Amino acid sequence: MTNKLWGGRFKKKIDPQFFQFQKSIDYDYLLAEYDIYHSLIHVIALNKSEILTDSECDRLLKALCEILKEVQTGGFKPNNSAEDIHSDIQQRVDKKIGKLSDKLHTLRSRNDQIAFDVKWFCFSSAVMVLEGLSSLIESFSVLSDKYPKSFMVGYTHLQRAQVVTFSNYLCAYSEMFKRDCLRLDNYVKSLTASIGSGALAGSAIDKKCYAQALKELLGKFSKDSLNVGPVLNSMDNVASRDFVVQFLSYLAIIQMNISRFSEDAILYSSKEFNFFDLPEEFCTGSSLMPHKKNPDFFELARGYSGPVYGNLVSILTTMKALPLTYNRDMQLDKQPLFSSFEIVRDEIAILSRLVPGITLKEDNINRALLDEMLYATELAEYLVSCGVAFKDAHEAIGKLIRYSQDKKIQIKDLSDEVLTKFHNKLVKKEIIKIFSPEWAVRSKKSLP
Ligand code: ARG
Repeated sequence: MTNKLWGGRFKKKIDPQFFQFQKSIDYDYLLAEYDIYHSLIHVIALNKSEILTDSECDRLLKALCEILKEVQTGGFKPNNSAEDIHSDIQQRVDKKIGKLSDKLHTLRSRNDQIAFDVKWFCFSSAVMVLEGLSSLIESFSVLSDKYPKSFMVGYTHLQRAQVVTFSNYLCAYSEMFKRDCLRLDNYVKSLTASIGSGALAGSAIDKKCYAQALKELLGKFSKDSLNVGPVLNSMDNVASRDFVVQFLSYLAIIQMNISRFSEDAILYSSKEFNFFDLPEEFCTGSSLMPHKKNPDFFELARGYSGPVYGNLVSILTTMKALPLTYNRDMQLDKQPLFSSFEIVRDEIAILSRLVPGITLKEDNINRALLDEMLYATELAEYLVSCGVAFKDAHEAIGKLIRYSQDKKIQIKDLSDEVLTKFHNKLVKKEIIKIFSPEWAVRSKKSLP
């Protein structure tokens, strides 16, 4: 008996180098739990079809449940000489119950198994990312609550633009991550795994037997259980990986959002800005320069955009123009999928613990907020409130700023005589109050 799931028609043994090249156990062992779910459903369906006797069914289920327990308790070590996770589990069942294990693979194909397994992996991983994102959103509100009255320099084009509250700034990221949650939430709700495609053409097992098997197993799978239903189209089921592409797209969007906060954190913690003090336990030093405290977490989180975007392009390219149905190319969806999931999951987990530890260097921020340019828009808006057309107000304030910069005199220090040359409504008594973060922020009525 061969320990492979195929071989009868071959005269020659597989080339050892090719075997190494094509095997997938080194990474697809991560699918063990879901692969066993597939087997549990399948064995019960075989029993319902009267292909397995009750006692055969019980012995197979018992062996599978023992292996499942090992997987769930972390005791499962993949057998590296197996071709893939399906063969590995088959061999373990064989070790436990001998010859009867040969009936496990009756009327099914690894093509059906792998589609099922990968879908379940995407589902569980998306649920984990969703949980991580809620903690991340919470951690942004913890930081925001630490500084309820603080302000921040707002930038456009990375040039000083207008004053904002620190919470307005931080909540911009919470909003991005909330949208990431919405996308993932719809995604997990939209996924349904199916069973019974056979290799591509369907299976001789009646769909009613699968339905009965699923009913018996209801509630027996992990706490976040994916919906499993009858196969709607056997060819689509074994041929499609759009759900992997979709998950990798969502992970790429999360990665993009993380990379933007990372860039802000790198800039704002530099001496040049000096607005943030990053928690030391998430920074590293230099082996040569004793003074360095480097924002390595954020640099890596920014840098991982390379592999995470690359993984999306990788699976899109692998799937492009593949003829129906299953092709072995599709085995290559796993490493990009696992890699993007692990990167984004870890970034979210670390970021959630790091964010509340950020300290604002308020003295430096407040010093930056003395820059009168940050209030130029509010000055123009003041003129508008006096009935001046915005275009004229914009022009007048633009000229005033130019004058103040050329003469190196603060607008606050200009006399009414000079100010009124730019516009007769520009009098010190009225405009002096505008150069304050509180006033600037209070003047914005559109925000919640
Ligand atoms: N390792 C394969 C994959 O990941 C499993 C399916 C193999 N099917 C086959 N007919 N060789 O896609």
